[in-house]
Order: sequence, then structure tokens, then C-alpha cells
Amino acid sequence: MENMSDRLLACVILAAGKGTRMKSDLPKVVHPLAGRPMLSWILETAESLNPAKIVVVVGPDMPEVEKLAGTHGTVLQDRQRGTADAVRAALPKLDGFRGDVLVLIGDMPCISAETLRALVTARHATADRNKTADIGLSILAADYPDPTGLGRMILSADGTLERIVEEKDATPAEREVTLCNCGAMCMDAERLARWIERIGCDNAQNEFYLTDLPKIAAADGAATRIARAADPLEVQGVNTRADLAVLETHTQSRLRRAAMLSGVTMTAPETVWLHWDTVLAEDVKIGPHVVFGPGVRVEKGAVIEAFSHLEGAQVGPKAKVGPYARLRPGAVLEAGSKVGNFVELKNARLGEGAKANHLTYLGDAEIGAHANIGAGTITCNYDGFDKYRTEIGANVMVGSNTALIAPIRIGDGAYIGAGSTLSHDVPEDALALTRAEITLRDGWADTFRRRKVDTERKK
Ligand code: UD1
Ligand code: CA
Repeated sequence: MENMSDRLLACVILAAGKGTRMKSDLPKVVHPLAGRPMLSWILETAESLNPAKIVVVVGPDMPEVEKLAGTHGTVLQDRQRGTADAVRAALPKLDGFRGDVLVLIGDMPCISAETLRALVTARHATADRNKTADIGLSILAADYPDPTGLGRMILSADGTLERIVEEKDATPAEREVTLCNCGAMCMDAERLARWIERIGCDNAQNEFYLTDLPKIAAADGAATRIARAADPLEVQGVNTRADLAVLETHTQSRLRRAAMLSGVTMTAPETVWLHWDTVLAEDVKIGPHVVFGPGVRVEKGAVIEAFSHLEGAQVGPKAKVGPYARLRPGAVLEAGSKVGNFVELKNARLGEGAKANHLTYLGDAEIGAHANIGAGTITCNYDGFDKYRTEIGANVMVGSNTALIAPIRIGDGAYIGAGSTLSHDVPEDALALTRAEITLRDGWADTFRRRKVDTERKK
């Protein structure tokens, strides 16, 4: 048996379709799962097979897709005339390539490298022990609970594939078949080039179907081998936003499981939403309903309590966040620091052991080690035009309901009286407070109430 690594592999990813059923200005493969475009997911999986090259077939006016393809080659399919036509557009990029071609549709983002390897291996395996049959083609198929819209695998009496019929061309009996084409196949490059030319468009959609290949291969004396995917969700395609939501759920549970297996505790995992790049260290605890946006790293032993929302944030070892905290881009929590309920941080660093436990906004700020930020503290960082920084030293005590009008510096160890509005720097170890004079009138409230009651009675 040939080994997968014996032959060179090229990969063609079809992404030229407009994705009409998504009803979107955005090309379908740009829509994200766990915050990452579908195309990027499948590209990463394809890359993990170490192919000699990857070619992405794009449609006109798809700069977003070209950008995602990055350093890989793209080819333009100027008119979307079907999946075989899309592969034809990629052929010039495979000119002179000797080896196998793995063709993937761009809207099956969750497929695993393992499944793809099995597909490539199936193409290499000799069919029979007596080596009579020539496996020209391997196709990935799965039993779908709901096969609506998919190409049905029509088997002959001996269990081999006879042909694939697209739903729109299928008879009612053929539609009963649940074994369907997932949208991934593997074949020899030179044969692919020859076979593609023979595909016509005499079908219900007037399209060039890639799924005609088995028929054409058979005419050439080459058999098709089916590689079966065990999990229909893994190979599920995305045609609508409802399909996308199904795969989002699937992706989220995969990410959560991976996090838990790597040592993260989640009390209610199904309520936690991760981003594809979320990094959670061992012994991190995540409460229910925590949402991670892009670029979050949480270090060992940190705790994120319920209903917190984090993006672009770094949470240091043993730091505590929430419940109901919001960490926005540039939030950095040093070891053992605490951000409590209804506290928002943006572009702000909380030093080691520092605390902001309640109802606070810290933006464009640097807070020293072991400082305590009282409830209701606001860094007033924006004048409608520019942003300004607040620097708070180590061991500073900021009293509750303080407004710090930036730019401002509070020296190490200073105390700020509650309710202050400060617009000037405070030196180290000083006390600063602003407080309006109290107005006190003995008995005023009593007199006021009596007068009101009298006037009411006279009405
Ligand atoms: C396709 C398969 C079907 C399979 C299903 C799995 C064909 C004819 N049908 O159907 O057997 O069960 O996928 O999900 O192959 N594309 C282009 N250019 C085109 C047309 C499509 O690049 O001209 C790309 C699309 O961007 C998409 C992929 O090919 O990524 C599949 O196209 P789509 O229209 O979604 O095919 P299905 O009808 O889902
Ligand atoms: Ca599709």
C-alpha cells in the first residue's frame, strides 16, 4: 500500500461562489466561526497536510477572500458555472504538477486533517488484493440525517459507487438516499485535467458538476473509492446562516472541550463563548455566561466569574475578573489583581494585587501595584477630540466616586478623598480631595413638609 507521503499533494479550495443563500454583501467563506473566517479554518487544515501548493478559486470582486488566501495562490473563476468549472479555472496553476490533487469546497470549515488524510489514503490504496481495479478517485461521503440539497451517492449492487446525483436532478427514489457527497475528493493531477474537459452541463442547473467525475473516471477504467466520514457535523456544509449557527455551536463545543482537557474548569461550559484564538492556561476557572472576543490570554489560576466580557485582554496569574466585568482591548491585569462587577477597563494596566472592585471605568490608565480604586471611580480620558492618560502610583487609595480628569498623575501612596474631582497631579503620600461646602439648615425638611401638606388640604 502506498503511503500518503509518497506522492506530492496539491490542494484546490473552491471559494468563488457568491453564497446567494447567505443573503449577504460578504462572500460566504468570509463569514466567521468562533470569530475566524470559514476559509481560514479550512486553509489551516489543508496546510497541516503539508501540500506542495494550495490554490484558492475566487470569484470577481472578492478582495476579502484574496486577502484570506494570503501567500497561497488564487485564481479567478470569472463566471460561476459550477464546481467543475471552478476546478478548471485552477488547472493552469497545476500545470506540470505531478501528484494528487485534493479538491475541497470552501464551505465545509469544520473538516479535520485526519478525515482529509483518510480521503487521500483511500485514493492511494489499491482496490483489491489482486490489484485489478485502478482507484482513480476517492470521494468523501457521510450519512446525513437531513440530506436536503446534497449530492446523493448512488451505489451499484456490489456496493461500489456508480454515480453521484445532485438533488435537483434526482428522482424521488434517489432522494431517499442519505449517503451524500461531502464535497472533498482526491485524484491524480494529470487525470483530473483530462477528465474535467469531459464534464458537460446537461443537467437541471445548467452547471458543470464536479460530481460527474466518478462517471467519467469509470469510462476511463478508473474506479472511485468512497471514504466515509464518521461525523456528519464535521463535514457539514454551510449554505445559509442557519447552517452557520449549527457549525458555530459545534465549533464552540470543540473549543470548550479542548480548553477543559487542557486544564480549564468551566462550571457551565455550554454557556461560555470562546474565540478561536482564546488562550486559557491550566487551572483557570470560568463561570457561566462568559464571552471571549478576539485576542484574550488568561494565565494560570485566574478566575473569570459569570457574565464577564473580554476582548484583547491579558489576565495575569491568579487575577480575578467579574462577575459582570468588561475587559476591552489593551486591558492588562497583573498577577493577583482584581476587577469586580460593573468595572470596565480599556487600554489600562492594573498592577500586581491592585483592585478595582465595583462600578468603575479605567481607560488609558496605568494603575500601580496594590492600589485600591474605590467604587464609582472614573478616568475622564476623552475631551471629544483626544484621549489622555491617567497614571496612578503603587499603593494609592482612590476614594469612591472620584473623577480623575486626564492627563493626571497620582504619586505612590497618595490618598484621594471620596467624591473628588481632580484635574491636577497629586504628589506621593499626599491627601487630595475636593469637596463642596456643606449647607445645613436645622429643621428645614420638617417645615417644608408641613407647608406642602397645608397647601394640599386647601385645594
Ligand atoms: C455541492 C456538491 C454536492 C455536495 C455539497 C456538499 C456539486 C455540483 N455539488 O453542492 O454534491 O453534496 O456541495 O456541501 O459539486 N463554487 C465555486 N464556483 C462555482 C460554484 C461553486 O467556486 O461556480 C464553490 C462555492 O464557493 C462553494 C463550493 O464550490 O464553496 C460548493 O458550491 P455550492 O453551490 O455550495 O454547492 P452545493 O449546492 O452545496
Ligand atoms: Ca454548499
